Amino acid sequence: PLTTTGDLVTRAAAAGSAVASFNVITLEHVEAVVAGAESAGAPVVLQVSENAVKFRAGQLLPLARAAAAVAERSAVPVALHLDHVQSDALLRQAADAGFSSVMYDAARLPYAENLTATRAAVDWAHARGLWIEAELGQIGGKNGRPPLDAHAPGARTDPDEARAFVADSGVDALAVAIGSSHAMTTRTAALDHALLKRLSAALDVPLVLHGSSGVPDDELRAAVAGGIAKVNIGTALNIALTGAVRDFLTEHPEAVDPRSYLTLAREAMTRTVARTLQTLGSASA
Ligand code: G3H
Ligand code: ZN
Repeated sequence: PLTTTGDLVTRAAAAGSAVASFNVITLEHVEAVVAGAESAGAPVVLQVSENAVKFRAGQLLPLARAAAAVAERSAVPVALHLDHVQSDALLRQAADAGFSSVMYDAARLPYAENLTATRAAVDWAHARGLWIEAELGQIGGKNGRPPLDAHAPGARTDPDEARAFVADSGVDALAVAIGSSHAMTTRTAALDHALLKRLSAALDVPLVLHGSSGVPDDELRAAVAGGIAKVNIGTALNIALTGAVRDFLTEHPEAVDPRSYLTLAREAMTRTVARTLQTLGSASA
């Protein structure tokens, strides 16, 4: 059944565990995430990013409606989250499109502007009962920016600044830059666990890890034990999807029916989801 992101993250944070939030681009992503969650017996978040909406010709509703339809029929609780929203026009579509939560991303702006924009987004979201996440620091790797940005000096989230940002903006959760980076295709990220510990002590809202595809299993478990309550994963699904399609088409260059390779792609993504949920299920504070 459909549930809310706020409920899943609150429960995970109270239990010292984390809820996984997977980025979906196609209907096959949606079906794979829900099938993987059902096989692991774990709740899950389906998240649609602003970039995914751009890919869908700027239309949020077709994928959102499909995600809601699959979520409603699922055997495990599933929430819908709108991810990395920069556009106010998109933000304003969230509630009517069935999302229970949004991540408002103004982290590219200088601190004062990030705070002002985020506070306005929080006021708007809370007035509609939406749970809202924001980001402070530079996680990097979005929109072609090099993943190594995440390791540049000043890119990490500062605990004192984060405490003020959370208090002054009123956000429900904070995405923190602790060494992960978006769109990594190798699982080689090294997280700053000492910084995570300081952030977790300084903040009383759940912390979110972005760019989790590049984080090895043991680092992921340590991050959950250190206070991460929502784990965002996108690229790992695309690695599984594209690998399955590439292998099939290399072996069957004559194939034309997309169902032949999309079935394999969906199964590969389902395995990735189930494996990730098992890893997270074995981690807790
Ligand atoms: O918000 C989305 C996540 O941060 C996904 O990052 O594609 O590197 O796993 P990833
Ligand atoms: Zn992200």
